[in-house]
Amino acid sequence: MSTKLEVLGQKILQRIHRHDENQGGVLTETTGGMGSGKTSIGLSFANYTMNNYPKEKIFWSECYNTPLQFYKLKRPEKYHIMVRKNSNVVFRDRNNKLQLINLKPTYFESFSDMYQYAKPGKLNIVFLGNRLDQMKLDMHLRSVGEWVHKYCEEFSEIAPMFPRGELWHLVKKYAAVLKDVRKCMMNLHYNTQQVSDIYYECRNKVMIKIFLPGAYKDKNCRVTQRAIDNLQRDKHNGNEAYLVEGGEFGKVRFGDIFEPNKDYHYEAHINIKED
Ligand SMILES: Nc1ncnc2c1ncn2[C@@H]1O[C@H](COP(=O)(O)OP(=O)(O)OP(=O)(O)O)[C@@H](O)[C@H]1O
Ligand SMILES: [Mg+2]
Repeated sequence: MSTKLEVLGQKILQRIHRHDENQGGVLTETTGGMGSGKTSIGLSFANYTMNNYPKEKIFWSECYNTPLQFYKLKRPEKYHIMVRKNSNVVFRDRNNKLQLINLKPTYFESFSDMYQYAKPGKLNIVFLGNRLDQMKLDMHLRSVGEWVHKYCEEFSEIAPMFPRGELWHLVKKYAAVLKDVRKCMMNLHYNTQQVSDIYYECRNKVMIKIFLPGAYKDKNCRVTQRAIDNLQRDKHNGNEAYLVEGGEFGKVRFGDIFEPNKDYHYEAHINIKED
């Protein structure tokens, strides 16, 4: 028998995966301690979307200079790497003294080109050469007029807490776009270890929060810190998590566990131009 918390957890999870034009998209935030499974949740959601909505376009944003996480999916037929022209993005093999490797990306110039070249039902991993520009990309995606899905690793690199000058204007505009997610056909999921590293106006727009073990409780959140601290960690059956949507919350266990793929220990890197 499921408990009330489990039933509500499933209900909120279903909301994340429902594509209903009248209800619009969702903005989801996953937080948790180091190695608590934040990336695995993103991969699991992306995988579900690819399998169930093969006609829709799915995007993934990775960090630079860290092992590329999407290889954990172990579905090479699904990867489509896209790089902005002249962004100086290169790929290196960590198993081989950071030797340059050619991952045969699709190159694009403008966001509209990028969107046109992106393949439905695949994981389109987009590198712009500057993670802050992912904000501009999302602004473009919100207006394409069909269902799009975006998964962002380490969102604090995209919408940082302390923007200055031009960046402040951009982050403000971006926060307004995030507010719109609910009214258009865009699902945006991001993860972060520390929610306090993200610009607060962006965080205020989050519709569903996922707390994994080791997460810090939010202000005005229905779940208590003690409840989060008691979430079970289980390497075999999956870690428990709280899902919070407004005033409602439930609990789920994430059984999709993605281990590092040691054969593909690659990283993306922005080459600095030498003068
Ligand atoms: N749902 C899960 N339940 C239990 N263990 C998991 C789960 N998902 C992943 N793991 C284990 O934890 C490790 C780290 O997972 P993952 O990279 O998803 O965590 P993370 O929170 O993104 O880590 P980081 O803080 O380094 O970004 C995996 O290699 C796997 O062994
Ligand atoms: Mg991670």
